[in-house]
Amino acid sequence: MLIRMKILVVGSGGREHALTWKLASDSTRPEIFCAPGNAGTSALATNLDIGADDLERLLAWAIENRPDLTVVGPEVPLCLGLVDRLEEAGLAAFGPCKAAAHIEGSKVFAKDVMEAGGVPTARSGAFSNPGDARAYARELGAPLVVKAEGLAAGKGVLICETIEEADAAIDTAMVDRAFGDAGEQILIEEFLVGEEASIFAMVDGETVVLLASSQDHKRAFDGDAGPNTGGMGAYSPAPIVTDDLWPTIREQVFGRTLAELRKRGITYKGILYAGLMIHEGALKVLEFNCRFGDPETQCVLARIKGDLLPSLQASAAGSLSDELIEWHDEPAVVVVMASGGYPGAYDKGEVISGIEAADSGDGVTVFHAGTARSGDDVVTSGGRVLGVTARGADIEQAVAAAYAAVEKISFTGAHFRRDIAGRALTRPLADA
Ligand code: AMP
Ligand code: GLY
Repeated sequence: MLIRMKILVVGSGGREHALTWKLASDSTRPEIFCAPGNAGTSALATNLDIGADDLERLLAWAIENRPDLTVVGPEVPLCLGLVDRLEEAGLAAFGPCKAAAHIEGSKVFAKDVMEAGGVPTARSGAFSNPGDARAYARELGAPLVVKAEGLAAGKGVLICETIEEADAAIDTAMVDRAFGDAGEQILIEEFLVGEEASIFAMVDGETVVLLASSQDHKRAFDGDAGPNTGGMGAYSPAPIVTDDLWPTIREQVFGRTLAELRKRGITYKGILYAGLMIHEGALKVLEFNCRFGDPETQCVLARIKGDLLPSLQASAAGSLSDELIEWHDEPAVVVVMASGGYPGAYDKGEVISGIEAADSGDGVTVFHAGTARSGDDVVTSGGRVLGVTARGADIEQAVAAAYAAVEKISFTGAHFRRDIAGRALTRPLADA
């Protein structure tokens, strides 16, 4: 009798649906469990009623059910040490240990590692006293960026055009504690101009496999207007990441960071995600994340030919190599459909129609994010609802296919950007 591998995917967003989708199509046809998953993962896997941050119940389930691999999607369980706990129980896990995940959990730690390791990044200072912070803001001059130190679910970054705005931002974070304890300490950072790109490196402690580049659209509205969101769409590859930048990315970004971590006794495994700012052919690191990006993962995984599972297992086991991942040349695009009002307050429970029709398009996959089942219906349950993803012969065709699929889907209040991948349409494509 064939014994199927068991995989546990932790998380409930579009990234986790994309991971589940890719793992479900693995040639070994593993049995997949998602904690807690969403309406999309429920079609491919068994959803468990366990929250992604509920370490005790996740561990209890894993110890009882012995998954062959646990793939941890979001940063919170990684920063809480889920991978350490699983490994202590003799279970394989994909993702960094707590000490390594600290590179996302603490912006001050990440800066310290970058500065000590010689990684190109913006000039900055760390402060736990508002008076010192104000003085440094004056030394640096506007525009500048104020960042709350800890995890703030993407909200702790304030871009300040003037010194007055900087003073107000320092008060918001440190005095009003708008980001909770994350504002106990802040970073004040030089404002960088340029274009952003996301690079995911898969790491096994030693070997680094660079995944295809991508670019996220963080602002809510067309033309990069409106408030910051978790990401309204993405595409891969990102033409701003030109061929000549890859050696710098490998050596100066990932090589130096991992070497500095190693010096501190920290072994990094899993995904190390570098958020880069690129300007006139030079790059600086804006941030590191300890996980796959969302929604970039949806379009990056859509470009992986064949199996993903062997590389995740090799990352966990320390036997990673470039040959484990094969790429489609075609670019991919993901358009996020969000609830009306997102990133502010929004209604939940709106019935979604047209997903099946959209999903049946050639090269199109509709990834669920904030969805739930209600009887026979799929309803909205979060801000970012769906990630409509398409591959195409070129970026124009991928964009056209994604938007043709978006047009088939409707729910009350739905909003999405109409200019995803707009930058790639005006620039020739690089290899990536
Ligand atoms: P972070 O969470 O540090 O990536 O910041 C969130 C977003 O704020 C980034 O994706 C950038 O769009 C913006 N940002 C952060 N730091 C800077 C900076 N030093 N200069 C310009 N923009 C920045
Ligand atoms: N797309 C940005 C992030 O995942 O942090």
